[in-house]
Amino acid sequence: MKEESLQKLITAIRSKSELSTLNEDFIKEHLTLFLKKEPKIAKILEENTHAKSAVYKETVKCVRAKLRKVYGLYRRGKLSTALDKFWKELQTEKDNQKRKTIIKKLLETHFSTRERWPHYVLLYKQIFKITGKPEVILDLGCGLNPLSFSFMELEDISYYAYDLNQQEIDVIKEYFTLLQQESHKFQGEAIIKDFLQEQNFPQASVAFLFKMTDIIDQGKGHKRTEDLLIRLPVKYAVISFPTLTMSGKPMNAPRRKWVEWMCQRVGYKYTVLEFNNEIFYVIKK
Ligand SMILES: C[S@@+](CC[C@H](N)C(=O)[O-])C[C@H]1O[C@@H](n2cnc3c(N)ncnc32)[C@H](O)[C@@H]1O
Repeated sequence: MKEESLQKLITAIRSKSELSTLNEDFIKEHLTLFLKKEPKIAKILEENTHAKSAVYKETVKCVRAKLRKVYGLYRRGKLSTALDKFWKELQTEKDNQKRKTIIKKLLETHFSTRERWPHYVLLYKQIFKITGKPEVILDLGCGLNPLSFSFMELEDISYYAYDLNQQEIDVIKEYFTLLQQESHKFQGEAIIKDFLQEQNFPQASVAFLFKMTDIIDQGKGHKRTEDLLIRLPVKYAVISFPTLTMSGKPMNAPRRKWVEWMCQRVGYKYTVLEFNNEIFYVIKK
C-alpha cells in the first residue's frame, strides 16, 4: 500500500486521545500485520482510502482494538495534560521536598504507580534484600515507574527504561537528566522501544516487568513470557500482577501458579512478595 495511504490510516488510528502518544512505528507495525492477515481489505484499501468507506472504518476500528489490547490502557484521565502540567512544575522547582510532592502527582497519573505509592519504600527494600543492591536495572514497559527511583535508595546505578509511550519516555528522559545532574553516579537511559523485538539488552542485575505478563502473553498461554525471561541477560527478574479484580475486590487466588510451575520447570528459584493490591515474584535465574 502507498505510504501516503498508510499515513492517513495511522493518523486516523491515533486520533483517539488514549492512543495519541503511541509511537508511530508501533502503530504502523500493527496496521501492516492487520493488512497482511486481511488481504481482501488490503486490496480494497489500495484503491480507495476514503475515510467514510466501511472497509476504512473497519480497519481503523480493528487496529485500534488490537493496540488497546497490546498496549494496555491503564491510565487515569487525560494523561497528556496532567503529565505536562506536573512536568513543567518539576522543572522549575528546586526544593527537594516539594519536588517529591510533584513526583507523587506524576506517579498518580498512572494506575499502577498510584497504587504502589504507599508501598514503594518497603517494596524496593524487600526486592533488594533478595537481589542485593543492583548495579544495572532494566525496567521493561516501564510506564512511569522509573519516577519511583528515589524510593530505591540506590546511588551507583545504570537504569535502562523501555516503553512505547513517547510522552512518558520524554518525561523519564528529563527526570534521568535531573538525576544525572545531581549525581554523576547515576546513569539513565529512557528508550522508546518494543522490548519484545529487542535482541540486544544490556547485561543487568535485575529486570522489572511490573504488570507486564498479561500484555506480553495476550491470553495465549505463557510461552512468550517464559521465552523472554530465558533470553534476558539478567540475574533476577521481578514480575508482578494485580491482586484486585477489575471491580476492586480482592482475588480469591492472587498467586499465579503458572509462574511457580514455570520456575520449577526451567530451574529458577523464586520468592513471593505480597502487598495489598499487587503480588511480586522475584525470580532468580
Ligand atoms: C500496565 S502498564 C505497566 C507500567 C509499569 N510497568 C508499572 O507497572 O508501573 C504497561 C506499560 O507497558 C508498555 N508496553 C506495552 N507493550 C510494550 C512493548 N511491547 N514494549 C514496550 N513497552 C510496552 C505500555 O506503554 C505501558 O506503559
